[in-house]
Amino acid sequence: QGTESHLYYHLLNGLTLFAACELGVFDFLLASERPMSAAQVAAGLGTDVDGMERLLSACAGLELLGTQAAGGEVLYSNTDMSRMYLSRSSPRSLFHSVEYYSKTVYLCWNYLTDAVREGKNQYEKAFGLPSEDLFEALYRSDDEMIKFMQLMNSTWNVCGRDVMTAFDLSPFKTIYDLGGCSGALAKQCVRAYPQSSVTIFDLPKVVSTCREHFVSPTDERIFFHEGITSFPPNGNLGHHWVPYGPKGGAGAASSASVKRCNGTTN
Ligand SMILES: C[S@@+](CC[C@H](N)C(=O)[O-])C[C@H]1O[C@@H](n2cnc3c(N)ncnc32)[C@H](O)[C@@H]1O
Repeated sequence: QGTESHLYYHLLNGLTLFAACELGVFDFLLASERPMSAAQVAAGLGTDVDGMERLLSACAGLELLGTQAAGGEVLYSNTDMSRMYLSRSSPRSLFHSVEYYSKTVYLCWNYLTDAVREGKNQYEKAFGLPSEDLFEALYRSDDEMIKFMQLMNSTWNVCGRDVMTAFDLSPFKTIYDLGGCSGALAKQCVRAYPQSSVTIFDLPKVVSTCREHFVSPTDERIFFHEGITSFPPNGNLGHHWVPYGPKGGAGAASSASVKRCNGTTN
């Protein structure tokens, strides 16, 4: 098959992964603790048997599941990779990232052609919401905001510690995380540097959701600040992380604040 067909088959691979995660295939196989037939998985998850057989077979083709033959049947089990990254309960789970890509990011990509034609975001078509502000669109309901925060959280489940220890940050005792979201990096930071404390700056509703759902009061070295425009009076930033984002978004807000704190104007 030509390169062209490989290109569009990649899209189908992604959709296969989304469906298997959404239906709970990897969680079911993890909980069952032994290889299962398609009929058993279908019965457990309440789906059509033939549909499940095809999905499991596609997952096996993508090496997301392992197979073995037993008594004329094919039995399926998680691979190390799917157990580690695709089951919800794993400490390194990317389940929420997959869910977000499936339910939100994918919606926007449906309108890529229109975005290129028109040169503007397609939130109105994707989410039914006219918005020039990315975060207004992403946080269009409390539920959506939590899903975005779970996405951020799950990303750092995998590589947060490596990022925090890529440079020695131990000389910095007071650290500000601009656009700190779910606090996932802040947690990794205080874990890696026991002498440090981290203050998370974010939008008021994100800070309150973070407090309620993501950072426990027992994380004693993590503090919060609502909004990104006011810094401590001495304006001394030991270290900062500037969130990425669209033109004029959080990144711009953070850069402006950092310049103010550093006493620079451009
Ligand atoms: C792409 S997310 C990055 C989150 C986090 N740094 C991480 O990597 O997990 C950007 C963050 O900036 C926050 N943000 C956007 N605009 C902001 C503003 N004006 N003031 C404070 N935070 C803002 C968002 O709520 C979000 O948590």
